[in-house]
Amino acid sequence: MNEKHYHIITYGCQMNVHESEKIAGTLKKMGYEPVADSEDADIVVFNTCCIRENAENHAYGNIGALKKLKKSKKDLLIAVGGCMTQQPGKAEELKKKFPFVDIVFGTHNLDELQKLVELKLKRKKSVVDVWEKEGEISEKDKPFRTSYPNAWVNIMYGCNNFCTYCIVPYVRGRERSRRPEHIVAEVRSLLDEGYKEITLLGQNVNSYGNDADGAFNFPDLLREICQDKRKFRLRFMTSNPKDFTEDLVAAIAENPQICRLVHLPVQAGSDRILQKMNRKYTFDEYLDKVKMLRKRIPDCQITTDIMVGFPTETEEDFQKTLDLVDAADFSTAFTFVYSRRSGTVAAEMEGQIPEDVQKDRIMRLVSLVNSKTREKSKEYLGKIVEILCEDYDGKKGVYLGRDEYGRMGYFPSSENVVGKFVNVKITEASGVSLTGEIVR
Ligand code: SAH
Ligand code: SF4
Ligand code: F3S
Repeated sequence: MNEKHYHIITYGCQMNVHESEKIAGTLKKMGYEPVADSEDADIVVFNTCCIRENAENHAYGNIGALKKLKKSKKDLLIAVGGCMTQQPGKAEELKKKFPFVDIVFGTHNLDELQKLVELKLKRKKSVVDVWEKEGEISEKDKPFRTSYPNAWVNIMYGCNNFCTYCIVPYVRGRERSRRPEHIVAEVRSLLDEGYKEITLLGQNVNSYGNDADGAFNFPDLLREICQDKRKFRLRFMTSNPKDFTEDLVAAIAENPQICRLVHLPVQAGSDRILQKMNRKYTFDEYLDKVKMLRKRIPDCQITTDIMVGFPTETEEDFQKTLDLVDAADFSTAFTFVYSRRSGTVAAEMEGQIPEDVQKDRIMRLVSLVNSKTREKSKEYLGKIVEILCEDYDGKKGVYLGRDEYGRMGYFPSSENVVGKFVNVKITEASGVSLTGEIVR
């Protein structure tokens, strides 16, 4: 067999996971097939993230671990791309640290990967090509998706918000919206192919269309997509609270295909900290939006992202975050310890918080969030929920999937129900996951 193989290792957010599908699409087109291990690959691609220091450290560790393999397998190509390489000076640093890396590329020239691989195959010297400026939005290579029955679809790239802790605007460039007709066409063709759940991706979907003088906007995009009356679920992330509008809530309310789950990252509860973060809303304004949403859509659940240990955060500030978790009644929250990212405004602020204080706060926050999540789980007991079956777990002998609110449910089935909506009666609800039986 003369087949060539690729292996992609992905870090970071769903945006990156989807971009790995685009990288896979490009490599498939070039004749490469996927394999599960780097040992069996002809090209290994690292699609990196730099949102927090530990994301970078993971990648460093795993890239370093390939040095031995590269020694024994001279023809192996190693490529490093993603957000990490977009930081100033990072490409050079990577080359110095890992001279055996063959290709370094960035998020702005993802579309050039084929060219870069072909160039490297022709020459001995490594290929380093990271663009400072964002490229054109391309509709070129079809992503190779392995996430059936779920599919991710980009609606926009970049971010203009410059929250002071965040590296994303520096490594992803300014906001660029995809044309609505391209998005709608992609969603239609995914539904034609049998996909059942579509997640629209953008760093702040609420500013979709702002770069086109408001010629189109996010609520209208949702309405347009929902013209398709086939049975499917529509999700989106992420929605910045500062731009979360009644019109968006109306669009959700009008269309049953849109999941009654909104991910609305709050980050912190203290107004002083929110201001230092450049989030552009207060504790009360955030809660008002939550109330507005719950009033219009009573069965809506809300999830969030929260950060502790931002520079100058006092115990009193942190208490406000705990108050907010109580008041907003989140179904669950992703919790993070603030990580100092060089190049951001917050990295230069006085009053960086010591690690032991950060650790203490994250532990208290996590325990509050977990107790809330468990409470919510209990409400599921005895209920019948609709689950979109995603997979079969051969080891446990059960099927698994999620409900509208993103809760994972496990259940037995005599027939293969992957890709189907099934009604499951919940018999056990521990922690974050549910167990049950199919009912007809
Ligand atoms: N665009 C999204 C967030 C993308 S990053 C939004 O604005 O909601 C995902 C999450 O990572 C953020 O919500 C934030 O909670 C966290 N995060 C971002 N930068 C961070 C940093 N420097 N340290 C710790 N967590 C961070
Ligand atoms: Fe980062 Fe803020 Fe942009 Fe989200 S909105 S990606 S947190 S700068
Ligand atoms: Fe995502 Fe990490 Fe980049 S969170 S946008 S992959 S820095």
